[in-house]
Amino acid sequence: MNTFKKTEELRAELLKHRLKNKKIGLVPTMGALHQGHISLVEKAKEKSDVVAVSIFVNPTQFNNSEDLEKYPRNLERDLSLLHEAGCDIVFAPEVAEMYSSKHDLKINFGALENSLEGKFRPGHFSGVGQIVSKLFNIFQPNSAFFGQKDLQQFFVIKKLIDQLSFPIELHMVPTKRESNGLAMSSRNERLTEEEKIQAGLIYKTLKESADDILNGTSINHITEQVHELFKKNERLTLEYFEVVETEKFTGISTISDPKKTALCIAAEIGKVRLIDNLLLNY
Ligand code: PAF
Repeated sequence: MNTFKKTEELRAELLKHRLKNKKIGLVPTMGALHQGHISLVEKAKEKSDVVAVSIFVNPTQFNNSEDLEKYPRNLERDLSLLHEAGCDIVFAPEVAEMYSSKHDLKINFGALENSLEGKFRPGHFSGVGQIVSKLFNIFQPNSAFFGQKDLQQFFVIKKLIDQLSFPIELHMVPTKRESNGLAMSSRNERLTEEEKIQAGLIYKTLKESADDILNGTSINHITEQVHELFKKNERLTLEYFEVVETEKFTGISTISDPKKTALCIAAEIGKVRLIDNLLLNY
């Protein structure tokens, strides 16, 4: 496994593979890797000849400086996990390598900006769009792999690929979960064992709500029930719970296409913000 910190050195290495007609699969990450990331690497290995992973805690996608500062970082451990997983290339640049002091580009994702993560984290998707576009331009991968856990982000990237004509095949990999259903996330490292148990309520809520919808209960009624449930819970604070259609991520009250319907939730425990989702046809 080769690790690079400099863009030009990485480009030179990738060119060698491209000249041999090797298919490059990219897994963009912010490090603090867990089994969810490893499942992205495994999918990338299935679909590509060369698997490349980027590790970069991207400052432009954080709208909360404390969240950026506390974001877990452990490069040594990440590299050892990636080596074990059979990754070929790692790119772990410093901030100055990715952004010059002049950087002030903004990207607006239209309707996706006005709901859920777009609404609660202003500027977040602009930052994701900037860094992912840079990574796509640097790596020029044949395919890219993202987790379902950040479902709205997946659709942001789909829009980026479609509307900026990146010749990249996009893959969504299902969320990996702990035994109580808690979605694996780098942020879980900031939870106590007790909080991890309590945070199991997030997935339980999604699953029970999806079952209720499929059994005919109205979305409005379910939404009220979820808000009541979280009001009674002293540890978890609900930020949003919404049933959405997945192109624009706008809330819906009746289902027209179950395949394009997702239940999305964000809640805080301690000072850690967690998100999760379930596609209705899970
Ligand atoms: O999902 C993430 O870890 C990040 O948002 C991404 C896609 C690596 C961009 O920084």
